[in-house]
Amino acid sequence: MSVQWGIMSTARINRKFLAGAREASGVEVVAVASRTRESAERFAREHRIERAHAGYDSLLSDPAVEAVYISLPNSLHVEWTVRALQAGKHVLCEKPLSRRAEEVSRCFEQAEREGRLLTEGFMYRHHPQTHRLVELVRSGAIGALRLVRASFSFELPEPRNVRLSRALEGGALMDVGCYCVSGTRLLAGEPRRVTAQQTLGGDGVDIAFAATMLCQGEVLAHFDAGMSFAARDELEVVGEHGSLFLDDPWHCVEPVIELRRDGRSERIEVERVNPYRREAENLSAAIRGEAPLLLGREDALGQARAIEALYAAAETGQAVTPA
Ligand SMILES: NC(=O)c1ccc[n+]([C@@H]2O[C@H](COP(=O)([O-])OP(=O)(O)OC[C@H]3O[C@@H](n4cnc5c(N)ncnc54)[C@H](OP(=O)(O)O)[C@@H]3O)[C@@H](O)[C@H]2O)c1
Repeated sequence: MSVQWGIMSTARINRKFLAGAREASGVEVVAVASRTRESAERFAREHRIERAHAGYDSLLSDPAVEAVYISLPNSLHVEWTVRALQAGKHVLCEKPLSRRAEEVSRCFEQAEREGRLLTEGFMYRHHPQTHRLVELVRSGAIGALRLVRASFSFELPEPRNVRLSRALEGGALMDVGCYCVSGTRLLAGEPRRVTAQQTLGGDGVDIAFAATMLCQGEVLAHFDAGMSFAARDELEVVGEHGSLFLDDPWHCVEPVIELRRDGRSERIEVERVNPYRREAENLSAAIRGEAPLLLGREDALGQARAIEALYAAAETGQAVTPA
């Protein structure tokens, strides 16, 4: 039987999530909530969602809703994740769950107390391109891993966008740099030491962020993230004998992996699939006990520890060892 989902907010990202959820098996979106009744009803009508709730608490009181997709601004993720868990809902919270490891622990402790599942919404982790990349690295396709280079940037011309608000915990690292951190950690393990630089914009958020990370096994990594320069998203994974290049590592709309080795280049095609679909299917299947949850506590904690260290490094200009 399908898991009944509710969506918390009428955020722009919901459109992509809903497109994935509609194709998904075991996923049925039955309700949406917004701060105002009018906006909830408009969104429900437009997307043919059965029930519209005025206020997020009302969604959490809906007895039919088993799982909640939280697409609020970053600063509200922890509060509403905890409240949703307390209301007995399973939670898929958009990335980043939090920039503070202590808050991530608190959320997962709540989930454990309530016997509910919680997962952080890194949809690219559910895509076959990412699984294939990990297989290639682990199977020795490029020899021993030495370096990871990542980037994710875009131009943000809207001064009122939530990403430019310090109070709402915007910032380039929080918005897009977190993918570079996630991809690096997936391949090279937890960072042991980080350095970083940032430039500020909006009302004091990082609009450009560049960092180096020394990871497990002496793997070096560097990445840049920006909301104030041209759109780029790339991942290069360099081994002793070759490298792997992904031109679309995070959105996964045009998945293909280029293997460069011995002066030759091979294109490894990957199945096209909606990553939001896979992410929603994973939580639904885990709720029904049919599959393990892909992203749980350890991954979210590692993310928050790295982000905390990266901001500390950028703010102090010192190298930082993540907690
Ligand atoms: N995984 C991905 O591919 C992906 C892509 C984009 C964004 N995201 C994540 O999704 C989240 C939402 O991003 P978005 O760009 O979709 O956001 P957005 O369009 O700005 O929407 C945020 C929603 O949050 C609600 N909200 C509650 N309090 C608010 C406040 N004080 N200010 C503004 N909005 C408030 C509003 O909905 P109501 O008025 O209806 O309550 C608003 O529509 C972020 O955490 C972001 O990192 C993920």
